[in-house]
Amino acid sequence: MTETAPRRTCLAVVLAAGEGTRMRSDTPKVLHRVAGRSMLAHALAAVRAAGADRVAVVVGPGREDVAAAAREAVPDAAVFVQSERLGTAHALLAARAALAEPADDVVVAYADTPLIEAETFARLRAPLAEGAGVVVLGFEAADPAGYGRVLREGEAVVAIREDRDAAEAERAVTLCNAGLMALSGKQALSLLEAIGNANAKGEYYLTDAVEIARARDLPVACVVAPEDEVQGVNDRVQLATVERTLQERLRERAMRAGVTMIDPDSVFLSHDTVLGRDVTIEPNVVFGPGVAVEAGATIHAFSHLEGARVAAGASVGPFARLRPGADIGASAKVGNFVEVKKARVGAGAKLPHLAYVGDAEIGPRANLGAGTITCNYDGFDKHLTRVGEGAFVGSNSSLVAPVTIGAGAYVGSGSVVTQDVPENALALARGRQETKPGWATRFRDGKRSRQTSGGT
Ligand code: UD1
Ligand code: MG
Repeated sequence: MTETAPRRTCLAVVLAAGEGTRMRSDTPKVLHRVAGRSMLAHALAAVRAAGADRVAVVVGPGREDVAAAAREAVPDAAVFVQSERLGTAHALLAARAALAEPADDVVVAYADTPLIEAETFARLRAPLAEGAGVVVLGFEAADPAGYGRVLREGEAVVAIREDRDAAEAERAVTLCNAGLMALSGKQALSLLEAIGNANAKGEYYLTDAVEIARARDLPVACVVAPEDEVQGVNDRVQLATVERTLQERLRERAMRAGVTMIDPDSVFLSHDTVLGRDVTIEPNVVFGPGVAVEAGATIHAFSHLEGARVAAGASVGPFARLRPGADIGASAKVGNFVEVKKARVGAGAKLPHLAYVGDAEIGPRANLGAGTITCNYDGFDKHLTRVGEGAFVGSNSSLVAPVTIGAGAYVGSGSVVTQDVPENALALARGRQETKPGWATRFRDGKRSRQTSGGT
């Protein structure tokens, strides 16, 4: 019989007080986006998914924007301000009120290290349940320069030495500190309070918790993660590197789940893109946040989708743009140079080419010809266009909203429809054609005779 271990409570503290001056940006570093979501939101999502019951976020002074983003991602997050930048342990102590409340585990994350997976946070917590006082997250660095080194005697971790404080022999160590750490909740405050600032930078280093724990005979463990998962961001070059790593991870996940990508390197996904089984994505497709594509649908080349749903078997693109609120029904077709915004397109409906469909409900099996435009905006308000089931809108028609085309109705090509069209009716709203037989011949003859008689 297996015994279930009692559930351990967990406090996650996310450090988001970074200045980020090397980003050269008016936006705080941790609010820069990776795969369509801020780095801060990535870090918060991971600690939440790893089972944190409480989340504390430490922000820099005056950073109401970072605090608001934290609360948006985790509504009950407790936000603390580190008023002076005196080191990672000092930053953590800004969240003293959160640390003072009981938790079995305390996990520390950095908001500028957005690729850590929930599973890694869970692995980081695990040794605490076996009695560890401190758990560090290590990685084998291709180039360890600049990182704190994880110093071991045998299997035991004895210290983390910051690069600038390290002796020559210690610098040769390649196992580095990723920065993230787990602390026993019972010990956390007292360990942090014992940390001093006698080092090359004069900062309160969180990493000193390791030596202090050792001195108190508390076991220290080290969990190792792949280097590309612990990448941090200090400038825009590193931001792009992290984006690339995350894109590779997302694409691989999608392909392993049954998605075909002809040229994965040219497909850009969002953190929340949902792609069903047997979906095909052609080259050069961009997914903004909030897109779901259901089984068997095809997204053709050079399409851009954001906040949209594409139902099973539908076909989108090439060169299509689905904006927020586009809801494309099963087996519907949205063809080239078609833009859809806040519109439901019914099952089997066709918008094959060159259309704008915004604020609309298009019924099942309706057909909108090339150049159909919903005139949804009067400069002040947006209005709704309804096209009924099986209706046929001829090419180059403007549907001036609010307007309804009844089920099964026809709209003649080139119409400007300003009044509702009843079911199964034909609406013609264009200039009547006038045809003058022989006119062109008479016209040309007149011109030519004037030329030969020397007229100008
Ligand atoms: C830190 C680690 C180092 C590790 C490296 C990994 C310490 C002392 N060192 O060094 O062992 O190899 O990360 O990237 O922890 N922060 C605050 N307030 C502060 C200072 C820092 O919020 O007063 C935040 C920063 O915004 C950043 C994180 O803590 O997100 C780490 O600080 P940083 O100065 O980048 O530390 P490193 O020198 O990189
Ligand atoms: Mg750093």
